Amino acid sequence: MALLELKNIDAGYGRSQILYGVSLEVMEKEVVCVIGPNGAGKSTTFKIIMGFINYLGGEITFNGANIVGFRPDQILGKGLGYVPQGRIVFNQMTVRENLDMGAYIERDKKKIEEAMDYVFTLFPRLAERQKQLGGTMSGGEQQMLAMGRALMTRPQMIMIDEPSLGLSPRFVSEVFELILRLAEEGLTIMVVEQNATRALEISDRGYVLELGRNRYEGTGQELLNNQDVRRMYLGG
Ligand SMILES: Nc1ncnc2c1ncn2[C@@H]1O[C@H](COP(=O)(O)OP(=O)(O)OP(=O)(O)O)[C@@H](O)[C@H]1O
Ligand SMILES: [Mg+2]
Repeated sequence: MALLELKNIDAGYGRSQILYGVSLEVMEKEVVCVIGPNGAGKSTTFKIIMGFINYLGGEITFNGANIVGFRPDQILGKGLGYVPQGRIVFNQMTVRENLDMGAYIERDKKKIEEAMDYVFTLFPRLAERQKQLGGTMSGGEQQMLAMGRALMTRPQMIMIDEPSLGLSPRFVSEVFELILRLAEEGLTIMVVEQNATRALEISDRGYVLELGRNRYEGTGQELLNNQDVRRMYLGG
């Protein structure tokens, strides 16, 4: 049984429909990537799963139960974490305060402390910089902070939108290593990436979206070897 499943999802913004019958599934402990050109609807897919935008039709289940019609905080509470595109951190808050914000649905102080320790173990650099303001961190550190914040609810699965976008090559490698480390920790991961080759290399399976529709799917290796996918999406 899939941990997360989308069946024929139609969704959009206001009156404009962006997704047309998108279907995908993520099995427990899988790493799945979603690739495709700009404007294909990759971020929109994550936003409809989290309950942020207009639902027009189809089914979404997490752990076998419907999640359509729930608020984003309720979906977080079911164990699905989300790191939006754009390394969004609170610039005027410290690293620790940023992480605290990630645990806003949790009341139990002890659980918050445990989650903070877990994040600091995964990201020692955040532990060293607990008192630094989010806005003064480097791009790569801000991406870590955004990921760390999403882990504060100790999700079963995490969706990460464009983690390597705009990072220097050193941090790009670090981000992919981190994703693999999270996978080793037992997290189920779905990632949207413009760095499609790297993403497919670390993924069990991948989906290619185009114009709001499913275009290709397969194992990471299958998509890397597919001539059409190579030509159209992997630069040759
Ligand atoms: N808030 C919004 N209101 C209206 N239209 C939007 C909004 N956000 C995105 N769109 C439109 O939805 C379509 C899909 O956008 P989306 O952000 O999902 O693409 P994407 O595949 O994530 O692209 P990118 O690789 O550039 O991040 C685009 O045509 C975009 O203009
Ligand atoms: Mg996007």
